[in-house]
Amino acid sequence: MEALPQRLPLVQGPTALHRLPRLTEYFGGPEIWVKRDDNTGLALGGNKARKLEFLLHDAQEKDCTDVITVGGIQSNHARMTAAAAASLGLACHLVLRGKDRSLQGNLLLDRQFGAELYFLDPGQDREAHMAALAQELKNQGRRPYTIGVGGSNALGSLGYVKAAEELMGQLNRPDFFDETVAAVGSGGTYAGLWIGAAAYCWRTRLQGIAVDGEPFAEIIQAIAQDAAASYGTPLPRRDSLLIDDSYIGGGYSIPTDEGVEAIQLFSRLEGILLDPTYTGKAAAGLIDRVRSGVYRECKRILFWHTGGAPALFASAELLS
Ligand SMILES: Cc1ncc(COP(=O)(O)O)c(C=O)c1O
Repeated sequence: MEALPQRLPLVQGPTALHRLPRLTEYFGGPEIWVKRDDNTGLALGGNKARKLEFLLHDAQEKDCTDVITVGGIQSNHARMTAAAAASLGLACHLVLRGKDRSLQGNLLLDRQFGAELYFLDPGQDREAHMAALAQELKNQGRRPYTIGVGGSNALGSLGYVKAAEELMGQLNRPDFFDETVAAVGSGGTYAGLWIGAAAYCWRTRLQGIAVDGEPFAEIIQAIAQDAAASYGTPLPRRDSLLIDDSYIGGGYSIPTDEGVEAIQLFSRLEGILLDPTYTGKAAAGLIDRVRSGVYRECKRILFWHTGGAPALFASAELLS
């Protein structure tokens, strides 16, 4: 693989990798481990810090003055972009879509980091709004850098290629985990891990749990193809791309009973916070796989924790 582009130091890593002994005992199944990307160190942590290392380095290289991105009202990606932009002296504009605009969780923090907020109703086109805003800023003589949903393009996904390399440095053998489970919300995290597994000969089944009804297999393959063309990363075999869409429930950001159960189990048995939109649903997928015997022959399973806990503060009713 060619040398990857440069990046900014936004992540405090390597993030911890450890066993979850009480959860393992509770299920009596294979050992369950966790990779703690909920503790990446930037603004309460999460997976987006890894993508932003590459994306915002690119923004600086291009001498941009402003960053614009899009997301749901409780977007973790928006919160972390706002924090990183603040630390780099870039103006940050967040185009957020959704109904509940109460100033809680991520939305409260977006404000705290000084981001300019633009609210859209469900159904309104975020990308079109971002493009119009970028044009408006250019007309004012500014140099905006736009980041699409979740920072999930080829450049952003390199954050998770590097994360796979980081994990390999923490393992004494490449087949330590029979399976790795991660949430899939816009595809960049999975794409990076998928490419990274091929690049660093990490031997695990990589199981993505979709939290939205998008065609993720195609989206992830397109990101990996772009990365291969632009950065010389390997293109993994198509049959190793595994996305399960059985845990979405009523739709993106609509909580499920299984997701809430996962949140309660992780917090009460291990003192680890999950969120209702991403990691709760991904953990619900892992738990269902344990219970239904998918891991009967397995020794160790890795849950790649991607963060999201700030959204819990906007979910008080759900959790009470
Ligand atoms: C907490 C959390 N986990 C997982 C994801 C999904 O990652 P990706 O968008 O790279 O698929 C997101 C992204 O929005 C997230 O905020």
